Amino acid sequence: MTPRTYRIKSFGCQMNVYDGERMGELLNAQGMAEAADGADADLVVLNTCHIREKAAEKAYSDVGRLRREDGSRPLIALAGCVAQAEGAEAQRRSPMIDLVVGPQAYHRLPEMVAQVARGGRPVDTDMPAISKFDAMPARRRSGPSAFLTVQEGCDKFCTYCVVPYTRGAEISRPWDDIVTEARALVDAGAREIVLLGQNVNAWADGARGLADLIRALDAISGLERIRYTTSHPTDMDDGLIAAHGEVAKLMPYLHLPVQSGSDRVLKAMNRSHSAESYLATIARVRAARPDIAISGDFIVGFPGETEADFEDTLRIVDDVRYASAYSFKYSPRPGTPAASMEDQIAPEIMDDRLQRLQRRLAEHSTAFNRRCIGKDTRILIDRVGRKPGQMIGKSPWLQSVFVETAAPIGAMVDVHLTEALPNSLGGVALAQAAAA
Ligand code: SAH
Ligand code: SF4
Ligand code: F3S
Repeated sequence: MTPRTYRIKSFGCQMNVYDGERMGELLNAQGMAEAADGADADLVVLNTCHIREKAAEKAYSDVGRLRREDGSRPLIALAGCVAQAEGAEAQRRSPMIDLVVGPQAYHRLPEMVAQVARGGRPVDTDMPAISKFDAMPARRRSGPSAFLTVQEGCDKFCTYCVVPYTRGAEISRPWDDIVTEARALVDAGAREIVLLGQNVNAWADGARGLADLIRALDAISGLERIRYTTSHPTDMDDGLIAAHGEVAKLMPYLHLPVQSGSDRVLKAMNRSHSAESYLATIARVRAARPDIAISGDFIVGFPGETEADFEDTLRIVDDVRYASAYSFKYSPRPGTPAASMEDQIAPEIMDDRLQRLQRRLAEHSTAFNRRCIGKDTRILIDRVGRKPGQMIGKSPWLQSVFVETAAPIGAMVDVHLTEALPNSLGGVALAQAAAA
């Protein structure tokens, strides 16, 4: 049977969200429709993440859960990084998986679905022979904030990480393709574009780098905000740092993962930066844009991490005063060098360090939010709030701000920030504040 409706479930990073949107557009172009809320879909695409063991295992439990009460099930496509890492092995482990498609091959999804309808069990984990982007339909729909992948893959080979294997070598999409897609997204309603890459600041087209691209997007009328993620500390060049001080649409927010504050651990991770060089980069960014919010990623319990190493991580957290952060327990990943290192850390120690780290990070993010109180700023409305008349928007520093306003989703609203909640801010719309 040829499926008529689909559902795509994306896990992991923003790039998977972007890929999920593009797969949906591809299926729409084939005449399929997204299944209505609560309805069964004929085709379910699980767009998976392999970064930590828990994420990867989730893929298989999710497959199992797709069996319906009457014993039937949808056509199941395994996509994303677990698909890339496991290939045909995924179907041996879970025979319910009808097709396996890697992150660089999903332009072939419609054709593979047709193969399944003819009784096949296709697997495609090819890395780009042709660019999947060239095979995609043009962008026609967008929310107020749109992801746009400009760079994919990673050549850094941090010793704990699967991404260089699941996403392949670093590639940059061509300048013209990106600008065309950005314009289409703005025409489709995007007010903000988030440029995506595993090492987005390694993006290059000839002599042009990410800063040049950001300046080109700055000239698109109707586009209000530009963000980019994820950057690597060693690719933060002078041009990009200067752009933070000069390009008004570039938001004052930088996600710059450091992973650890210990040089010994950073070396074992193959991070190619030290704590000191990272701090020097942060200082330069802050000189260019003093109000910038810094965010980071951390791993605790990397093999061989001592209490002293961990304290170095707490110290760098205090030095940077992160506005927000993601922190993880080290998860050994098959095929990565760190998985076979000696001195793997006991789970209790990891739990303890993660708790202590998260407590410290929360102190800094709360302090950052408190420092915002009293500021006037502009938010981009992206959701309806729970209370009547309440809307939620994003501040330039990426906090969610609750406000009473009649402005619709997609509007930019000037607000006075009045209140810091644990993970968000409260504000009053400025027109209203003046009237009150
Ligand atoms: N390219 C980005 C992010 C890659 S994955 C970067 O270089 O920072 C997102 C985050 O997941 C990483 O920053 C890291 O903190 C975490 N991560 C990656 N591999 C991991 C592993 N094996 N165990 C625990 N956390 C991991
Ligand atoms: Fe993974 Fe390191 Fe590449 Fe980031 S830079 S994707 S952590 S290998
Ligand atoms: Fe996960 Fe792949 Fe992204 S492993 S974090 S979905 S690049």
